[in-house]
Amino acid sequence: MSTKKSLPKHVAIIMDGNGRWAKLRGKKRYEGHIQGVESVRRVVRAAADTGVEYLTLYAFSTENWGRPAEEVEALMTLFCSCVINETPELIEQGVKVTIIGRRSRFSQEVNERLDEIERRTAEGKVLNLILALDYSSRTEITEAVRGIAVKVAEGSLLPEQISEQLIDQHLYTAGIPDPDLVIRTSGECRLSNFLLWQASYAEFYFPQTLWPDFTEQDFRDALEVYASRDRRYGIV
Ligand code: IPE
Ligand code: IPE
Ligand code: MG
Repeated sequence: MSTKKSLPKHVAIIMDGNGRWAKLRGKKRYEGHIQGVESVRRVVRAAADTGVEYLTLYAFSTENWGRPAEEVEALMTLFCSCVINETPELIEQGVKVTIIGRRSRFSQEVNERLDEIERRTAEGKVLNLILALDYSSRTEITEAVRGIAVKVAEGSLLPEQISEQLIDQHLYTAGIPDPDLVIRTSGECRLSNFLLWQASYAEFYFPQTLWPDFTEQDFRDALEVYASRDRRYGIV
């Protein structure tokens, strides 16, 4: 197993392949999403067990609103039922949930559920679980730039005070360390608008496994691959 030294502090996962998993079995796409929840459970457990401190899961991109209404609706229902069903176990495991992304397009019900899971898990100390919902990295950066521009226009900030740290503080992920390892399942090798700024020096891992098939061992394998990498940050 990886030593503590080479353990990523923050693992971010693009959970991809639910639709293909369902199609291979002659099922509807949403059945793949339902099965994907099992993988979320496994990975949360594995992250907590291995000592990973931050786990970010990309669950719904801003672009995903463009999917057929039936699928979007099924996903919204799934988010709500997950909050109801999973919160007690998350509390027991010491998991603290934070939601990142835009919240304005979700229904009142979904927003209430998301507030609820954040409120009820706020005391968690074992693992920070960050759920990216209606997330777009470009939107995040655009909103940060706008927030900074407003401060400059008001006179409360000088242009020369704009630093990388200041930009960090204006992102949804303010206070969360950058991901060390980004995993994308299903064999796709792209970021799809995920953590573009934050992943500048992340290590990437692209297993072929479809998300609903992703196991605790797959997560541990990813940590092993990470441990074997040499992170140089531009220095020889
Ligand atoms: C990822 O699986 C889950 C979401 C984007 C919500 P997909 O639904 O993208 O599955 P594929 O890529 O079509 O197989
Ligand atoms: C990215 O997957 C978004 C999530 C996993 C939530 P997509 O399946 O939506 O991305 P593309 O369309 O393959 O780039
Ligand atoms: Mg996909």
